Amino acid sequence: MSLTFIAPPIQQINSEIARRAGVDLYVLRLDLMHPWVNGNKWFKLKYNLLEAKEKNFTMLLTFGGAYSNHIYATAATGSLFGFRTIGVIRGEERLPLNPTLSFAVQQGMQLVYLNREMYRQRNTPELQEYLQQRFGEVFIIPEGGSNLNGARGCTEIIADAMPTAGYAYAFDHICLACGTATTLAGIVLSLHEGQRAIAFPVLKNGAFLAQEIENLLTNYLASGLPSPYSSPVSWELVCDYHFGGYAKVNDELLLFSQQFTEEHGVPLDYVYTAKMFYGVMDLLKQGFFRRGDRLLLVHTGGLQGNVGMEERLQRFSKI
Ligand SMILES: Cc1ncc(COP(=O)(O)O)c(C=O)c1O
Repeated sequence: MSLTFIAPPIQQINSEIARRAGVDLYVLRLDLMHPWVNGNKWFKLKYNLLEAKEKNFTMLLTFGGAYSNHIYATAATGSLFGFRTIGVIRGEERLPLNPTLSFAVQQGMQLVYLNREMYRQRNTPELQEYLQQRFGEVFIIPEGGSNLNGARGCTEIIADAMPTAGYAYAFDHICLACGTATTLAGIVLSLHEGQRAIAFPVLKNGAFLAQEIENLLTNYLASGLPSPYSSPVSWELVCDYHFGGYAKVNDELLLFSQQFTEEHGVPLDYVYTAKMFYGVMDLLKQGFFRRGDRLLLVHTGGLQGNVGMEERLQRFSKI
């Protein structure tokens, strides 16, 4: 099962802040892999789709918010690989559909809305049984593709991107934005000794993710799924750059994002990557990294969400 992807470039960032800190900064541009299925999304979906295909499912069902990158990518991969797709969306239907959901419908996704109370039950056997009864034989992928299949795909992110096998050793720190920590788990499982993954939770009070990642790593290693290494290398959560919580932004973040794009030609999404890039640049100013360190910042995509976010921001500024 494969899609035609552009090999994600590794782009050096020539920034005065990095130069002063004596650090080399690179971005892994997963956002450029494919117009619809990019960032960490293909990696999280790949083994879920393979399992669905192996088990002869023809319909995928998954969950997400109204601006979800995962809903967008599942709708696209479903149509590209010939699966029917159902997107279970949190909250009430709002018309006209926003750009994310319009795209999903154009790709043939059927949308179903669950009120927040019911949506919270999405991982319970009762709700899953209800969905199976309502839609028949569906292969259920959890919200965000956050399961062991998702983590398995993410073990391939760094290795797939490197021009040569040994190239990955060149980086001391791999930095990434973190929602559920599935991508982090996959990356941690793929790093070499001496390397460290630094994850920036985009949710408020993200410290709880430390336990999530421990659980994910333990479950993954116990599952017998392939892992490049059996003992994960070090990782760290930096919880100070959530900007008020999930999908919350302020003028400082918006300005940073705009300036970074202008200076370095790297567009950032406001929900995930802008917060991580902001965090890294701020840590560089604080002398958090050692001189001579080489950093690889993983651009996990999510740019489709900017259209909806910009519309919402314009609406607020009119009030
Ligand atoms: C663009 C983007 N970056 C980062 C993440 C965080 O990934 P994870 O939930 O695996 O931590 C997500 C969510 O899947 C995302 O859509």
